[in-house]
Amino acid sequence: MQNKVRKVLITGGTGYIGSHTAVVFIEAGYEVVIADNLSNSKIEVLDGIKKITGTKPEFHKIDLSDENITSDFFKTNNNFDVIIHFAAYKAVGESVQKPLMYYKNNLNSLMNVLEAMLTHKISNLIFSSSCTVYGQPDELPVTEQSPVKKALSPYGNTKQIAEEIISDTLASNNYLKAISLRYFNPIGAHESAVIGELPLGVPNNLIPFLTQTVAGIRKELSVFGNDYNTPDGTAIRDYIHVVDLAKAHLFAAERLLKNKNKSNIETFNIGTGQGNSVMEIIKTFEEVTAQKVNYKIAHRREGDIEKVWADTKYANKELAWKAELSLSDALLSAWNWQKRLS
Ligand code: UFG
Repeated sequence: MQNKVRKVLITGGTGYIGSHTAVVFIEAGYEVVIADNLSNSKIEVLDGIKKITGTKPEFHKIDLSDENITSDFFKTNNNFDVIIHFAAYKAVGESVQKPLMYYKNNLNSLMNVLEAMLTHKISNLIFSSSCTVYGQPDELPVTEQSPVKKALSPYGNTKQIAEEIISDTLASNNYLKAISLRYFNPIGAHESAVIGELPLGVPNNLIPFLTQTVAGIRKELSVFGNDYNTPDGTAIRDYIHVVDLAKAHLFAAERLLKNKNKSNIETFNIGTGQGNSVMEIIKTFEEVTAQKVNYKIAHRREGDIEKVWADTKYANKELAWKAELSLSDALLSAWNWQKRLS
C-alpha cells in the first residue's frame, strides 16, 4: 500500500528560508502549499523552486496578519498535516523604527494561523524562532535551557512573545503540537544558485553586504567593532548554511507526524555548534572565492552582542539532524548566488 502524500503549508514560503525549505519538502515527497504576501520576496521564486525540484508549489498571495483573509483562506485550505510558519518581518533595525508594524504583523499573523489550526483541527506547527531570544548568554555554547533574556529589539521581542503565545495556546488543548526552531545565523544559497537571499535595499546582514561589496555594488564593508573580548576582537556568530537549516524543518515535521515529541511544545537550537568571527568570515570568503574583500574597521553596531554559538547536542540527538555543510560551502554558494544576481 502506498503511503499517503503529506501536505505542508509554508507561510512565508517565497522568502529566503521558506523557499529553501519548500525545496527540501518537495524533494522529500511532500505536497507543498505556499502562502505569502510577497512583501519581501518575489513571485519568480516559485519558478526557481520548480527549476530545482520539477514542481511548482501551489501559491496563495495572502496577508496572514489580516484576520478575515486568513480565516477565509483556511475555510477552503485546511487539510494540512503540518504548518511551517515563517511569515514575519525580520529586520532588527527597522523594528526599532517601526515597532507597531512589527508587533502587528508578526504577532497577528501567528495568532491568525493558530486560530485556524484550532478551528480546523490542524495539529502540527513548526515555528521559526531565533537565537536572539538568548541575548548575550552567560555561558557558551548556548543550550535550549539557557534563560531567555530581555529582547534588545521589537523584532527580538516578537520572537519571545510568539513562543509564549504558542505555549499558552498549546496548554489550552490537547491535540495541538509545536516545535520552535531557534535559528542561529543563516547564510548561503541553494547550490544551483537558482534561489537565495534577496535583500531589499542596503543589506543589514553581514553576508549579503559582503557579497555586494565584492560585486562592486557597495564601496566597502564595515566591520562593526574589533575591540570585543574575542581572539581577534571581532564579534562571533554561528553561521549555518540555509540548506542545512531548511532540512531541520523536515526532521521536525517527521518528529511531529510520528508522535516522537516528548512534550506538546519543544524547542531546538539550529546552528552548527561552531562560532566564527567577522574577520574569519572575511578570510574564509577570500580563500574559497579567490576574491578580495574591501573592508574597514568601524565602530561597534548598537545592539550587537559579542559572541554566541549553539550547543546543538539536543537537536543532533532528538531531531537526528546535524548541520553537514561547511562554512566554505556556505560562503561559496553565497558568492555564486550574488554573481547570478549582479
Ligand atoms: N556585521 C558587520 N558588518 C556588516 C554587517 C554585520 O561587521 O555590515 C557583523 C555584525 O556586527 C555581527 C555579524 O556581522 O557581529 C553578524 O551580523 P548580521 O547582521 O549578519 O547578523 P546578526 O547576528 O546581527 O543578526 C542575526 C539575524 C537576526 C537575528 C539575530 C540573532 O539577522 O534576524 O541574528 O542574534 F535576530
